[in-house]
Amino acid sequence: MAEATPPLTPMSLAVLLGRIDNEWTTRKKIFDLPTARFWQPDADVDLGFDFLGRRCASPIGPAAGPHSQLAQNIVLSWLGGARLFELKTVQIIDDLEIARPCIDMETIGYNIEWSQELTVPQSLTEYVKASMLLEMLREWEPLTEFVGADPGPHVFDMSVGYDLAGISGEKVSLFIEGMRNAEAEIAKLRPEIATAAGGAFAHLADLDFNPHLSDTLTLSTFHGCPPEEIESITKHLIDHHDLDVIVKLNPTLLGYETVAGIVNDELGYADVPVKEQAFADDLQFERGIELIGELNDYAKERGHKFGIKLTNTLVVDNQKGFMPDETMYLSGPPLHVLASTLLDTLATALPGMLDVPGHDQAGADIMVSFSAGITKDNLADAIAMGVNPATVCSDLLKPGGYGRLAPMLRNLTAEVRDSGHTDLAGWKAARQSAAVEAGFATTAAQHVAHIRGEGIEPYHLSGNEKLPRQVDNELEMFGCVACNFCVTVCPNDAFTNIKSLVGVDAMNGRQQYLVFAELCNECGNCMVFCPEEGDPAMIKPRLYTDPEVFAGREGQGYLLADGKIIDSRGPDPSVPLVQQLLDSAAGNPLATTTAADGDV
Ligand SMILES: Cc1cc2nc3c(=O)[nH]c(=O)nc-3n(C[C@H](O)[C@H](O)[C@H](O)COP(=O)(O)O)c2cc1C
Repeated sequence: MAEATPPLTPMSLAVLLGRIDNEWTTRKKIFDLPTARFWQPDADVDLGFDFLGRRCASPIGPAAGPHSQLAQNIVLSWLGGARLFELKTVQIIDDLEIARPCIDMETIGYNIEWSQELTVPQSLTEYVKASMLLEMLREWEPLTEFVGADPGPHVFDMSVGYDLAGISGEKVSLFIEGMRNAEAEIAKLRPEIATAAGGAFAHLADLDFNPHLSDTLTLSTFHGCPPEEIESITKHLIDHHDLDVIVKLNPTLLGYETVAGIVNDELGYADVPVKEQAFADDLQFERGIELIGELNDYAKERGHKFGIKLTNTLVVDNQKGFMPDETMYLSGPPLHVLASTLLDTLATALPGMLDVPGHDQAGADIMVSFSAGITKDNLADAIAMGVNPATVCSDLLKPGGYGRLAPMLRNLTAEVRDSGHTDLAGWKAARQSAAVEAGFATTAAQHVAHIRGEGIEPYHLSGNEKLPRQVDNELEMFGCVACNFCVTVCPNDAFTNIKSLVGVDAMNGRQQYLVFAELCNECGNCMVFCPEEGDPAMIKPRLYTDPEVFAGREGQGYLLADGKIIDSRGPDPSVPLVQQLLDSAAGNPLATTTAADGDV
C-alpha cells in the first residue's frame, strides 16, 4: 500500500444508499447479507436488556474492533440482530500505520490491529451515517417483513483510548461532544438522501434523526495502562463529558500463574508464549478490586452508572510469524475461559457489588459487559452468567461473518422459550436456581466448572487445531471455487459477488468476486480463509471510485465513474470483462458513484 493514501476511504451516505437499493432490487441482499440472515425479534420472547439503564432489544453486538468502524459494518451487525454497538476505539493518534496482515483467525484469534484506521473526524462521520442509516432502515417498508414492524431499540456505546492526555485533548473531546450532539453532522449528510439511488429514499430525507448518538463510553485501557491513569480518565469522562462509563479490563488481572496455567496447561496451547512482563505492567488484582469499588462510588455520587467489561485481548509473543509485529493479541475460545474465570473471581471478591446472578442484593449495580470467544454455542451460558451484553469479534471474522449473529439469537430465543420463559430476567433467575440446585454458588461458577471440565473441548487446542480448507489451485482474477468466504469474512464488506456471465470462458458460469478497494485495509482475513492459493484482496478485480486513491495505490485496479471504467491498471483484456460483469448485475452496485462522492 502506498503511504500517501489512507488505508480506508469510507463510502459516502449516497453511495451506501445506492448499494442498498441496488442489492435489494437485484438480489434481496443488503451489503451482501441475504435476508435469511436478518434477525427478527420473536413476538413472545423479549431478549431485551438494560445497558446502563438504556434499553437494547437484544443482548449482543459487535465488540470494539473491525466490525464497528465503518457505517456499513454497523448496519450489517444491526441486520443480524445486534442492538448494542461497542464502537471502534477512537484515539488521538489517528494516522498510525498498522502493519499487515493484522488479523489472523486461522485457528483461535490473533490480531495486531490495535488502533482505528480513520481520522477521528471521519470516525464521527461514520457513526453518524450509521445511526442515520439505521433510522432510515427502521422506516423502510420493504424491510419490515424481514426485521419486524418494531426491530426494537439499540444503543451506540463509544470507546476511547488510551491515555488521559489524548482523551482530554481537543480532538477526542470534539469527537465525544459530536457523538453527544450530532446536529451539525446530520445537517451535512441529510442533503445526500433525496437524490441517492435515483430518489429511492427521498421520502426519508426529512426524518427527525436523533442527534443524541451516545452518552455511554467504554474505556479501552489497553495493555500497560496504569491504575492512576484508568482512574483519572474515568473521572474525566464522568465530570467533563457527563457520561456513564465502563472500564474494559485485561485478562492479566488474573495474574501470570493463573493465565499461563489455563492457556498453556489446561487448554493445551503449550506453544503460546504468554508475555510475563505484560502482567507486571498491567493493573494488579488487589488494586483492581479497590479501583472498581472506588470508581463505582465516584460515578454514583455524581448520578452516573459504572460498569466493567471482561475482557480485552491477551498479550502474547508472536510465535506464528503470519503477522509482522513481535507482540500479538489473543482472542476467541481460550479468552472465553480466561474472561469467565475472571468474572467468577471478581464477583466472589466483590460480594454484593456486581450485577450478576447470585450476587444481586440491593446495591449490586456494577454492570458487567463481556467480550471473549462468544459463539452460537456458548451465548446462552454467557448471558446466564449475567453479562450485559455479550459482544463478539473473533467469531464474526469466521466464514459466515455477520450472518453468524442471527443464529446466535435464534438459539438463545429457543432456550428461553423452551424453558417456559418470556424474557431474559425470568430465565436467568431460573438458571441461577438450577445452578444452586446443582451445587454451584452461581451460574458463573457453574459455567466455569463446565468449560474447564467436561465442556473443555471447544476451548482446548484439540478443538481448535483444524485449519481452513485448502485446494491445490492458484487463485485467478476470474473463476474460483466460489465459496463466498472472502465476502463473509471481510468485516468491511469490501467484497461483493456478482452473477457470473454465461458463455464467457474465464467466468465459467460461476459467481465472480469484486473488491471495493477503498474499503479494503488489507487485514489478511480473506487470504486466511480463501481455499485457493493467493490473496483474494489483491487478485480479484479492485474497483476504485476515488482518482487520488487509485493513483496512490499499486497493482491492478479499475477506476469507476458512474459505474463505467474510466481508467485501469492490469491485464488489458480484463477491462471489458469487468465492465461486462458490472453491467450484468442488472444494476451496477456503484452505478451512482461519481468521483466526487468519496469522503476524503
Ligand atoms: C481485529 C481486532 C481489532 C480489535 N480492536 C479493538 C479496539 O479497537 N478496541 C478495543 O477495545 N478492543 C479491540 N479488540 C478486542 C475486542 O473488542 C474484544 O474485546 C476481543 O477480541 C475479545 O472478543 P472475541 O474473543 O469475541 O474476539 C479487537 C479485536 C480484534 C480481533
